[in-house]
This record gives sequence, C-alpha cells and structure tokens, in this order.
Amino acid sequence: MFISKLQNLFCLKRKEITKPPVKIIDCVKTGVEESPAKGYQIEAEHFAELVMSPESAQLRNLFFATTEMKKEQGVADVLPEKISKVGILGGGLMGGGIAFVTATKASIPVRIKDISHEGIRHALKYSFDLLNAKVKRRFIRKSEMQKQMSMITGCVDYSGYKNVDIVVEAVFENLELKQNMVLEIEKNTKESTIFASNTSSLPIGNIAAKAARPENVIGLHYFSPVDKMPLVEIIPHDSAVGKTSDQTISTTVAFAKKQGKTPIVVKDKAGFYVNRILAPYMNEAALLLLGGEPIDKVDNALVNFGFPVGPMQLLDEVGIDVGAKIGPILQADLGERFAAPSAFSKLLDDGRLGKKANKGFYLYGKQAKKGKKQVDDSIYTLLNLKPLGSLSNDQIAKRCLYMMLNEAARCVDEGIVRNARDADIGAIFGIGFPPFLGGPLRYIDKIGAQSIVAQLAQWSEQYGERYTPCEALVSMAENGTKYY
Ligand SMILES: NC(=O)c1ccc[n+]([C@@H]2O[C@H](COP(=O)([O-])OP(=O)(O)OC[C@H]3O[C@@H](n4cnc5c(N)ncnc54)[C@H](O)[C@@H]3O)[C@@H](O)[C@H]2O)c1
Repeated sequence: MFISKLQNLFCLKRKEITKPPVKIIDCVKTGVEESPAKGYQIEAEHFAELVMSPESAQLRNLFFATTEMKKEQGVADVLPEKISKVGILGGGLMGGGIAFVTATKASIPVRIKDISHEGIRHALKYSFDLLNAKVKRRFIRKSEMQKQMSMITGCVDYSGYKNVDIVVEAVFENLELKQNMVLEIEKNTKESTIFASNTSSLPIGNIAAKAARPENVIGLHYFSPVDKMPLVEIIPHDSAVGKTSDQTISTTVAFAKKQGKTPIVVKDKAGFYVNRILAPYMNEAALLLLGGEPIDKVDNALVNFGFPVGPMQLLDEVGIDVGAKIGPILQADLGERFAAPSAFSKLLDDGRLGKKANKGFYLYGKQAKKGKKQVDDSIYTLLNLKPLGSLSNDQIAKRCLYMMLNEAARCVDEGIVRNARDADIGAIFGIGFPPFLGGPLRYIDKIGAQSIVAQLAQWSEQYGERYTPCEALVSMAENGTKYY
C-alpha cells in the first residue's frame, strides 16, 4: 500500500506537490532519475517555498520560545538546590512513568513507595518494558539497561526515604489521602524535602492544608504517557497555611528540566491550565456526538485539523472515568460552561472506561481487527443515537477548537499562565495542539479576535450561553489588539 501511495505521489506534477515530505522525496527522486545538479536545483526551489510558509514561521517561533524557556528557572535570582535522590509515592501508571524519566533521563536514583508489592512490580515492569524495547532495537546495550534499572528500587514502608530531596506523589486522586501523604513525608524525610503532587485536579493549597512545612509543597503535573509527553505544569500555592517558597519553585523547575521536560509555572486554580482548556474542547466533541455526529467523523475532523489524535480516542486513552472525575471539579469552581453532558454517565454505568477496560468509543482486545481503528457501534444504541452527521469536517473542528481558544484567552487574562508564550507551549506540548499553527494564542492572532468573537456570539444565540466570548477576546476585538 505504501509503495502504491508513493507511486501515486511520483505521478504528481511538480506544482501539485505541496506537502513537505513529498517535496523531500521529489528532491531525491529528481537527483537520482535526472542528475544531481537538477536535484540540488529542485531542493533549493522547494526549500525557498517552504521556508517562507506560515507553518515554517510558526515552527521557528516555537523553537525560539523553547530555547528561551530553557534559560528560565521559574523565579528570578534563586538558584536550584541539587537533587541527588528522589522518592515516588505510588507505582501506578503515572508513578511508573515518573520513575522511568527520573532514572533514565535525569540519571537520579529513585525509591518508589507503594502500599502493595503489586504497585512496585508494576512500576519496575513499566521501565523494564521500555528499556527492553530499546535493547531489542539495539539502541542501548543490555548492560546499560541493567545500570538504569538498578537506579529504581521500591519499598512498602519508608525505608530509604531519610535522604530523598524531592518526593513526587502519584497516589489515587483523593484529597484526604494526599494530605496524609504530606504528613507522612514530613515525618519520614529531612526538613528540606520537597513534596510535589501530581494531582490532576485538586488545588495544591488544599493538599498543603495540614502541612507543617507548606513552603515545601508544590504541584508537579505530568501528562500521560509520561515518557512521551514533554510538558509539566509547576503549580506553587499561596493559601491560608502559607505559600510555596521560591527555593522550592526553582528546584522543582530544574528537576523537571533534568527529566527532559518543558515546565510552565501556572496558578493554583481548578484544572490549572492544560486540563482547563482541554475540558471545553472535549465537552464540545461529546455534544457533537450526542447531536448525531459519528465518533470517527468527529475524531477525523480534529486529526485533519492537525491534532495527533481526535477527542474521542483521547478520552479512550486517558480513561472516560478520569475525564468524568475532573469535569465536576471544574464545574464547581469555574461555572456551568464546564458541565459535561449528563448522558455520558451511561458510559460509566456500562463499564465503558476506555482502552484500559477494553471497552470505550472504539473496539479493543479480541473484538478489534488489526490495522484501522473501528468504532464500537454499540455505543450509539447505548446513547440512543442515530449517527447521521449533518455537519462538515470544518464545522466540527471549528466548534471544538473555538471552545479551547476562548478558554485559553480567559486563562491568559486571569493570569493562570504567566504569558501568551507559556499558554501556547502548554497547549502544544501538553495536548498536541498543532505546532505548525503556533499554539492557540498565535492562532487567535492569525484569524483575528473579531472573527472569533462574531462566531462565538452567533453560537451563543443559537445554542446557549457556554459559547459566550470571554471579556478578553471581546476587548481585543474592539481595540484590534493581538497577543504577539
Ligand atoms: N492517569 C493519568 O492520565 C493522569 C495524568 C496526570 C495526573 N494524574 C494523577 O496522578 C495520580 C496517580 O494516577 P495514576 O493514574 O497513576 O493512578 P493509579 O491508580 O494507576 O496508581 C496509583 C498507585 O498509588 C498507589 N497507592 C495508593 N495509596 C497509596 C499510599 N498510601 N502510599 C503509596 N502508594 C499508594 C496504588 O497502589 C497505585 O499503585 C492521581 O492523582 C491522578 O489524578 C493522572
């Protein structure tokens, strides 16, 4: 199939070749079939065209933004403390991934504490599987794998915790449990040990509420799968019990960078930044499905727009139950626009939790055929839907996307992120917002606040209040201002 696709590409006339990979193939093909000189000439022509494209400009912006961020420490004038040993609480999906990047990327020894040996076994297997795949592909030697595996150890008590410099907490999403973890860490580690919580939705100030040393408590929010997703959100708190110290922020930022991550410092408010802009986008996709748009059509529309996966597939990957837990927290703190469609509770009642349960929007396990993803049609019966689909791909993508743009603009306005640059980086590295569009704020600049506000206002009249354009966008539309 690949060969026949290539042959089709080779039949294209030169001016019909628009995609960069095809242009590259064209250079090589010309060099081989005609002459090296002609190949170089075509290469120069294609390069000139590509380098002047808006996509190239956005990717260069992204490069300069990340280069700039590498020099930042999260706070001015406070140098980070050295981290020589790391504790991780919980060896589940996230704990396993965090242990992997700490040992293999940051080269720092890790001590995992779980309540069960099963949890520790899971975390060790997580790293073993990833490293073993590298050995099989001959990327690393077996001895290197053994060396990296020896950096990860486990315990069901706090043995080996006396000297840890930072503890990353990745236990179940439960406030009381996380508050107890803070107390146990304060009891079993040294005075300067940082407590970094990987909570996806609980305010860090609440987790620190019973802490004796609240200045050591901070949020360190990774994204799944941890070994692949480049972003982390760093969340200092400022609450009734005290606030995260600048030293803790600086050391945590440096630690995340050592793990190969790009950190953004965000405010301690429900959903932080990434989940907050993701939620309205996912809700909109769910509403489109409930309005009769087929699952794969919604996903394809967003993939064609440039996202790596569509919202339905993303929900299957993350876990429909995980999404369902975050929604009500955002709704309670930020308002009705975050209300998830109530029909979705039927999915949970049906045990449809996504990929991990082999039951979601798509078929998994024995039911799934190799190759293309197939929608699990029984979901339409469950939700009492006829997937007839009346909207175009562009309309679907626009509906989901504009909800995200509106929320991203609100986050910049409320200071949830420090600036438009961090908001763009957060969306690209945390969600997979198309990098060649530069991020949601650069995209707003491209299409213009005026046109977005007009569209949102029209939907708001047509479908309801949740589409109301935020004040920041309205004022930008009135004054003709831009983010960059
Ligand atoms: N799954 C995601 O995509 C994702 C993404 C970002 C953040 N998070 C957050 O990360 C945290 C962990 O999520 P997960 O998906 O890895 O959960 P998980 O259920 O896979 O793992 C949790 C682990 O914690 C262990 N545990 C429970 N109580 C403990 C205790 N008292 N001491 C030590 N270990 C204990 C459990 O045995 C289990 O191994 C949650 O707060 C979640 O909200 C999850």
